Amino acid sequence: MLKTKKRLTLLVAMCLLRIVTIAQTSDRNKLAPTPPMGWMSWSFFAEKISEQGVKEMADAMVSSGMAQAGYKYIFIDDCWQGGRDNRNNIIPDPKKFPSGIKALADYVHSKGLKLGIYSDAAPLTCAGFTASLNFEEKDAKTFASWGIDYLKYDYCGAPEDSATAKLRYKKMADALSHSGRDIALGICEWGDRQPWNWAANAGGSQWRMAGDLRDKWQSKPGEPGMSIMQVVKTNGDLAAYAGPGHWNDPDMLMIGLYGVKGPSADLGGTGCTDVEYQSQMSLWSIMASPLIASNDLRNMSPQIKTILTNAEVIAIDQDVLGKQGIRKVSDEVWDIFVKPLANGDVAIAVLNKDNNARDTKINFVDLGINGKCLIRDLWAHANVGTASSWKGNVQAHETKMFRLTAK
Ligand code: GLA
Repeated sequence: MLKTKKRLTLLVAMCLLRIVTIAQTSDRNKLAPTPPMGWMSWSFFAEKISEQGVKEMADAMVSSGMAQAGYKYIFIDDCWQGGRDNRNNIIPDPKKFPSGIKALADYVHSKGLKLGIYSDAAPLTCAGFTASLNFEEKDAKTFASWGIDYLKYDYCGAPEDSATAKLRYKKMADALSHSGRDIALGICEWGDRQPWNWAANAGGSQWRMAGDLRDKWQSKPGEPGMSIMQVVKTNGDLAAYAGPGHWNDPDMLMIGLYGVKGPSADLGGTGCTDVEYQSQMSLWSIMASPLIASNDLRNMSPQIKTILTNAEVIAIDQDVLGKQGIRKVSDEVWDIFVKPLANGDVAIAVLNKDNNARDTKINFVDLGINGKCLIRDLWAHANVGTASSWKGNVQAHETKMFRLTAK
């Protein structure tokens, strides 16, 4: 009898724990209903990050029109840390952040923006600074007290197996859930342990699905370092895993870096053309990816600003249905993605991977779209016809983007 009672109590306790866990996970899923948009410090500042630099980028985010276009986060990446104080509280480098992170968060919030920060699930970060292993609760509370809205959690120096990764990410997600503030979690283990299968359950709003992207369209044979084309190839297969609150993250936008010195420039990252940057914007948007600029927002050419702030393209990325575009065609020359939208429209992206301009004709029925559609070219900002197909020329490495409305 007693045994049965004990068992019953244990069962009820387990059920309650499960309910709490599910509730926490689904709550965490609400933190990024559409893919997060912002600017991240790594490519441009790396170890030269500073309070002044971050403030200037926040100013530029607003004055350039990027904030208006939807870019809301300023993400502080690695190299901000100054160790721990005598109570083991993590602290910023006092030379780089003389006013502290709370003051910076207040500043960023006063501009209507949000602030992200960075740590790692090991004793040290990728760049060798103090990280959060075994200090998860403490650091989550510190981040909350500063007013942090997002944590990018890296995986350098941590064991290779998946079980440990899941535990370490879940531990931090739970700590963030208990911190008293809504702080989204970005999982960054470079796709090595197929995070699309477990990262959302571990409490992540997004997960990097590949290694660090370099500022290059394509890698030369045998050259290491991820290119835009490599990331697209892999991420194109992962559409089923993304949805509101949990996104595949193919890494930062290289748009406007033009091979600038820094982390994006090594391993062949010598820069892209404006056509290729425009393609990255189209492809990231059709794949419902986080849109995280990494260029110098203070000095943007009109072309780059136009690419980053194209409202019609951003609307595809941010569509509330939250579907990652499905790659319906992938051959030697073409990739064609199809993304259903909340109002019943469909977005399509047509990528010419060839090194020469190409003519093409796309019959919508081959993409599963029946009947005639009003065709809107989202880069030309023009309606280009009502038809059941589209015929035209696509430049080398260009990605055309259309919104189709059934007629
Ligand atoms: C890893 C991440 C990068 C960046 C650096 C910082 O390489 O993948 O995005 O955060 O660490 O050290």
